[in-house]
This record gives sequence, structure tokens and C-alpha cells, in this order.
Amino acid sequence: MNKPFKTVDWVDGKLRLIDQTILPTRLEFLDYSNYKEVVEAIRTMVVRGAPAIGCTAAIGLAIGANSIVTESREQFMIELEAIAEEFRGSRPTAVNLFWAIDRILAVEAKTAGSITDIKAALLHEAIEMLEEDVRTNRAMGHYGAELLSSGDTVLTHCNAGALATVAFGTALGVIRAAVEQGKHIQVYADETRPRLQGMKLTAWELHQDGIPVTIISDNMAGVLMREGKINCAIVGADRIAANGDAANKIGTYTVAVLAKHHEIPFYIAAPYSTIDLTLADGSLIPIEERDPTEVTHIDGHRIAPEGVPVWNPSFDVTPNSLISGIITERGVIHPPYFENIARMAE
Ligand code: MRU
Repeated sequence: MNKPFKTVDWVDGKLRLIDQTILPTRLEFLDYSNYKEVVEAIRTMVVRGAPAIGCTAAIGLAIGANSIVTESREQFMIELEAIAEEFRGSRPTAVNLFWAIDRILAVEAKTAGSITDIKAALLHEAIEMLEEDVRTNRAMGHYGAELLSSGDTVLTHCNAGALATVAFGTALGVIRAAVEQGKHIQVYADETRPRLQGMKLTAWELHQDGIPVTIISDNMAGVLMREGKINCAIVGADRIAANGDAANKIGTYTVAVLAKHHEIPFYIAAPYSTIDLTLADGSLIPIEERDPTEVTHIDGHRIAPEGVPVWNPSFDVTPNSLISGIITERGVIHPPYFENIARMAE
């Protein structure tokens, strides 16, 4: 989806999001000027994908700041912190959300002048973050494309594409960059139960761009690998611990185990801001559990028997031992991760 429109955008004084709950049936945009509705858009996954969530929260916080009525900096920050807390509660796993909120909150201390000046500076920073996200994805694509050869077939899980970022994508950005270099790349997209981001979003956006993509259900990846049809797997991440353990959409761990067994490289593509240096390993990453109806229902229709309990973790953690490399905008990080991640910190 290398298109003029963006997944998260600032248009005519409003936040504009693609409504990802109705893709691929309809492509529609929603405009927001009320921060509470932005919090709800993140929670209900109108917008999803770690970088897109972070960028949306940044703009949402700037919108929230505009609704604060005071001339006191102290009071302004008390109220802004309360709004930030509402955003922090929207989705717990993607660290980009917390990173983006902290970055917006830090603007006040760096800004001289009136509350009006601070509000303008917050919005300016948030808009800059949208532009930076695209540059970051392009840089990731530049480094990641080196890992792909013409003729490769790549397996991906969930959606780490343009729809999970402002534009271009992380894992799909690597594929796009390789295609831009003239390489012939084919993609297998895991459908990604329970919410089907792979089938509904990844397949849609690659198809829009004319990149060959085949949908498989999640339980088909193993046999594809055994038949020698996959050259590498590339996925995104919602949070990476200091030792390289990486949380991503539920089912990613299964793909990584299968890739290891079949001696296929397994890469994570994520901006450096997805690395949470405060967490020593992946066991400390908070894993979101979502509503059981995501499992029992498909598009509003119940497909499971009534009364049977459901477990619905939204993410799993892939241990660093299964990861061949972490593609970031600063370069590809290889094992040993703890040392090499730390070395790449600014
Ligand atoms: O629950 P989602 O759809 O927000 O999960 C998205 C993923 O797991 C992505 O792979 C991850 O956020 C990386 S997006 C570049």
C-alpha cells in the first residue's frame, strides 16, 4: 500500500485513521478531534500495529492537550498526565505506545512560552513522529532488503505492514524495499487467528501493491517449510527485551520454532524504539489478553459451542535463540543480542 494516503495522518486539523475493522471489505477513513475517541480507536483496533498505535497516541495526546483550559503549567501537566494515563491503558504490550507518550510529555520541559505555545509544540512533535516513522521504515527496508535474494519466498505472520505503521511497514517494508530493488519476492501470509490480520490486512495491502501473496491458515506453515517453499520468515514486534526476546502476535513463536526446525532464517523487523531496554528478558513483557469473543466469533457469528472457556492471549514471546536477526533502522542486529542491542543504543 505504497499509496498517497497514510494509515495515521493529520489532515485539516484532525487525526485521520484508516478504519482497519472493516478492511478488506471497505476502505474508509475516520476523522477524530476528541481524544477519548482516539483512546477507544486504539482499544477497539480501528488502528493497530505497534508503530501505528504509538503515532496515534502521540497525536491523540496533542488533541487532548488542546482541550485543557488553564494558564498554569503545573495544572496543564497534571491534566495532560491524566490523559496520558488513559492512553497507557488502551493496549499494554506495544512499547511504542508508552515510548510515544513519554516523548510527547517531554516536550513541555523543552518549550518556553505560554500554554498555547506548549500545545503547538506538542502537536508539532506528534506530526514530526508521523514523518519520522516513514523514514524509519524506509531505513529498515534498506537494511532488511539485503537479506533477501531475487526469487525468495517469505512467510509473514499478522500484519507488520503499511497498515501497522504510518506507511511502508516494517516486515512488509523490507519486502517492499526488496521489490523496489527489482527483486522478485513472493509472500505467504498466515491468516493469523483470531483476528485474521494476515488474511484481512497483509494480503490486502500486498495485493494492492501487486506483490504476489498467498494466504494460508496458520496450521499450514509447517508443511510449506518442509516442502522447501519458504526461504525466510519476517515478522514485526510489539516489544523486544534487552536480550532480544521479542513479543509479537500470538502464533509468532510457533512460526519461529518451525523455522528453527527447518533451518530457515527467522527475522524480526522493528524500529529501535520497540526495544525496551528496561526489561532484561521476554518473561517481563506484559501480554495483553483480549475478549474471548475474538476466538468464539468470526465477523460477529458464533462458531464455538456456548459455555466453553476460552484463552485469548494477543501476543507471545519468541526467545532470542530462535531469532536470526533483528532488522532496525540502525542496521541488522545479530546475536549475541544483549551486547549488540546495547552497542546500538544512541
Ligand atoms: O494486535 P495487533 O494487530 O496490534 O498486533 C500487531 C502485531 O503483532 C504486529 O506484528 C506488530 O505490532 C508489529 S507492527 C509493525
